[in-house]
Amino acid sequence: MKLSSVFSASLLLHDLILLLCVVSVPLPSMADGTVDRLALESFKSMVSDPLGALASWNRTNHVCRWQGVRCGRRHPDRVTALRLLSSGLVGRIPPHVANLTFLQVLRLRDNNFHGQIPPELGRLSRLQGLDLSLNYLEGPIPATLIRCSNLRQVSVRSNLLTGEIPRDVGLLSKMLVFNLAQNNLTGSIPSSLGNMTSLFALFLQSNTLEGSIPESIGNLKSLQLLQIAYNRLSGAIPSSLYNLSSMSIFSVGSNLLEGTLPANMFDTLPSLEMLLMNNNHFQGHIPASLSNASYMGDIELSVNYFTGTVPSHLENLRRLYFINLSDNQLEATDSSDWEFLASLTNCSLLHVLVLGTNNFGGMLPTSLANFSSSLNTMTLESNHISGTIPTGIGNLFNLTTLSLSDNHLTGLIPPTIGGLRNLHGLGLSGNRLTGQIPDSIGNLTELNLIYLQDNDLGGRIPESIGNCRRVEEMDLSHNKLSGQIPMQLYSISSLSTYLNLSNNLLNGTLPLQVGNLRNLGALVLAHNKLSGDIPTTLGQCQSLEYLYLHDNSFQGSIPQSLSNLRGLSELDLSNNNISGNIPEFLADLLALQHLNLSYNDLEGNVPNDGVFRNITAFSVIGNNKLCGGNQGLHLPPCHIHSGRKHKSLALEVVIPVISVVLCANMPWEAKSLLMEIYTAMGFFC
Ligand SMILES: *[C@@H]1O[C@H](CO)[C@@H](O)[C@H](O)[C@H]1NC(C)=O
Ligand SMILES: *[C@@H]1O[C@H](CO)[C@@H](O)[C@H](O)[C@H]1NC(C)=O
Ligand SMILES: *[C@@H]1O[C@H](CO)[C@@H](O)[C@H](O)[C@H]1NC(C)=O
Ligand SMILES: *[C@@H]1O[C@H](CO)[C@@H](O)[C@H](O)[C@H]1NC(C)=O
Ligand SMILES: *[C@@H]1O[C@H](CO)[C@@H](O)[C@H](O)[C@H]1NC(C)=O
Ligand SMILES: *[C@@H]1O[C@H](CO)[C@@H](O)[C@H](O)[C@H]1NC(C)=O
Ligand SMILES: *[C@@H]1O[C@H](CO)[C@@H](O)[C@H](O)[C@H]1NC(C)=O
Ligand SMILES: *[C@@H]1O[C@H](CO)[C@@H](O)[C@H](O)[C@H]1NC(C)=O
Ligand SMILES: *[C@@H]1O[C@H](CO)[C@@H](O)[C@H](O)[C@H]1NC(C)=O
Ligand SMILES: *[C@@H]1O[C@H](CO)[C@@H](O)[C@H](O)[C@H]1NC(C)=O
Ligand SMILES: *[C@@H]1O[C@H](CO)[C@@H](O)[C@H](O)[C@H]1NC(C)=O
Ligand SMILES: *[C@@H]1O[C@H](CO)[C@@H](O)[C@H](O)[C@H]1NC(C)=O
Repeated sequence: MKLSSVFSASLLLHDLILLLCVVSVPLPSMADGTVDRLALESFKSMVSDPLGALASWNRTNHVCRWQGVRCGRRHPDRVTALRLLSSGLVGRIPPHVANLTFLQVLRLRDNNFHGQIPPELGRLSRLQGLDLSLNYLEGPIPATLIRCSNLRQVSVRSNLLTGEIPRDVGLLSKMLVFNLAQNNLTGSIPSSLGNMTSLFALFLQSNTLEGSIPESIGNLKSLQLLQIAYNRLSGAIPSSLYNLSSMSIFSVGSNLLEGTLPANMFDTLPSLEMLLMNNNHFQGHIPASLSNASYMGDIELSVNYFTGTVPSHLENLRRLYFINLSDNQLEATDSSDWEFLASLTNCSLLHVLVLGTNNFGGMLPTSLANFSSSLNTMTLESNHISGTIPTGIGNLFNLTTLSLSDNHLTGLIPPTIGGLRNLHGLGLSGNRLTGQIPDSIGNLTELNLIYLQDNDLGGRIPESIGNCRRVEEMDLSHNKLSGQIPMQLYSISSLSTYLNLSNNLLNGTLPLQVGNLRNLGALVLAHNKLSGDIPTTLGQCQSLEYLYLHDNSFQGSIPQSLSNLRGLSELDLSNNNISGNIPEFLADLLALQHLNLSYNDLEGNVPNDGVFRNITAFSVIGNNKLCGGNQGLHLPPCHIHSGRKHKSLALEVVIPVISVVLCANMPWEAKSLLMEIYTAMGFFC
């Protein structure tokens, strides 16, 4: 009761003051201060403040000394700024802030405000800066904000705002920075934005805006930063935008934009530092004027339909740091088409060069070796590049990622590769590389990922590979590697995602040391010539989800210790010489989805539970001594009937002999039919 009477008194007082303000009558400053204090007290009473950010907001303390509050110079009792950043405030934004008539700055960034932006804020005619970013505000941007005609900076970034951008937003003609990014705004970009003639930075990225970019944006002569990526904008970029000579960051990536780039684009946009046009439908050539873009730092043109060659003479791009042209249809056939690469070696700040998934062909230029030591990513995968890997590649000692996978490269892996001591990822897969894996691979002690699969590499896996003690993923599959797997490989305890040595000519046994690979998720040794027992220590590899040992010559029984592999999802032991029983624990491995034990020498009962319940999830065909199990297998029951004694000699002797002969080479379906007949009589294959 008491509070509400104070409240209504303050309402009256405020209205009176507003009226007086309008007629410019000087006011007693006490009364002014009181209005602002009451507004802020209402604010405090309406939000919850779990971190005590508003603890200083009490009556023993003057309003102007309250945390986050600033008062004016000319009106010392009037609140001109309210800044409560990252203060953990929760609730709706109280409309009472709109009573702070002298407010110029309202910043409530990074709190937990929800609900709508109060339309009352439109009353704050002096407001210059509004920052409500990083909250959970929803609903539309109130059209009333357009009345705050002094606004220069607005950010409502990272909220849950919906609806369209107010059509007349361009009336905020003093705007310098306008940030509506990371919301769920729909509709098109209003062409009135072209009336914000002082605009310096426009951020509309990560919304659901559609339609075309309005031509009027070309009126924004001061625009330096255009960030409208991650929307559904379509159509061509209006040519007027290419006349904005102050433009420094031009980011339109991940939209549905189309069209070609004007040939002189980099002459008319001389200040460009960042050009991000990736993931659109742009086509045509990359303009030759790129060679004049001397302030350029980042170029991202990946995932478009750019064709033709890359312009040469890029040596003037002294500030170039990052260039990604991947996933286009760019081409090279002869050495002159590769000149751009030589010219890029003079860009001494270049860190990232990504040219993958294009139509680059011909030979890799040896000038590759001349890149500055700043280069740390070079990817040329999925092109048509032939010839050998230049030995000079070993000079690029600061490379962390090198991918030349899926090309037509031939010849040896140059031993100089050992010079790339900082390499984390090496991809040479899908080529026609021959010879041995060089011993110097062991110098790449930082390697995490190594992909050499699908080549014609032969000889033994070098023992030095054991020095690569940080490898998480290793794929050497589909080569002609022979001899034993070096013992050192089992000491790489960092191996975690997978080790794939399948489809080679590896022989020898799998030693007990394989149990050291405790973090390994997938072990793929299929299609080799490995022999001996399946080591019991495999049970220590408790992260294993995929174990493929099929198409080898493993023998002995399935070790009981594999029952420790509780996460095992797929197990393939098919096409080996494994004997003994199918252990019951396989039915208890709850994660097991696929089990292939076919074409071995297993005998006895097929379990009935777990993976064995689902006839399509496992296979035991080609094991001629099994019985029981899932009915769909049509195997004989495991216990021979006592009635057998009474069968005639002919049945007892002749039929088993026939069946042994027949069973050996019979199609499986015929075999199972025969088995059913024999089973009825008490015999089985
Ligand atoms: C303050 O703002 C609230 C909500 O916008 C309004 O109801 C009230 O009349 C205003 N005046 C005063 C003095 O609080
Ligand atoms: C009022 O705020 C001041 C400053 O934070 C503090 O020192 C004082 O203890 C507070 N007074 C009360 C009554 O909470
Ligand atoms: C934005 O809208 C889409 C669909 O309209 C919805 O799936 C998504 O959750 C929304 N995102 C937010 C942050 O509200
Ligand atoms: C933008 O400015 C032009 C010319 O000053 C005017 O004709 C137009 O109505 C304005 N549009 C908006 C939406 O403010
Ligand atoms: C760009 O500027 C040039 C020269 O100032 C002018 O001729 C051309 O018409 C302008 N283009 C657009 C689309 O504004
Ligand atoms: C680079 O700029 C110069 C000087 O403005 C101009 O003459 C030349 O044609 C431009 N080069 C390209 C390839 O556009
Ligand atoms: C280059 O672009 C491709 C396709 O958009 C992307 O997958 C890749 O991560 C980019 N590379 C770098 C280093 O940013
Ligand atoms: C690159 O720089 C070297 C010296 O640093 C110079 O000799 C060479 O001419 C430059 N290449 C180009 C294409 O500018
Ligand atoms: C090598 O790369 C690192 C990390 O990117 C960088 O800090 C360092 O400056 C580079 N070294 C040289 C010689 O460019
Ligand atoms: C690899 O390291 C060894 C010694 O650690 C060194 O003798 C050899 O030259 C290095 N090879 C390369 C290619 O760096
Ligand atoms: C393994 O293969 C190598 C040649 O590839 C051969 O010399 C060696 O005898 C084989 N070892 C075994 C145990 O078969
Ligand atoms: C049986 O196994 C198949 C193959 O793994 C799988 O697609 C299917 O969902 C399983 N059915 C049941 C009932 O679990």
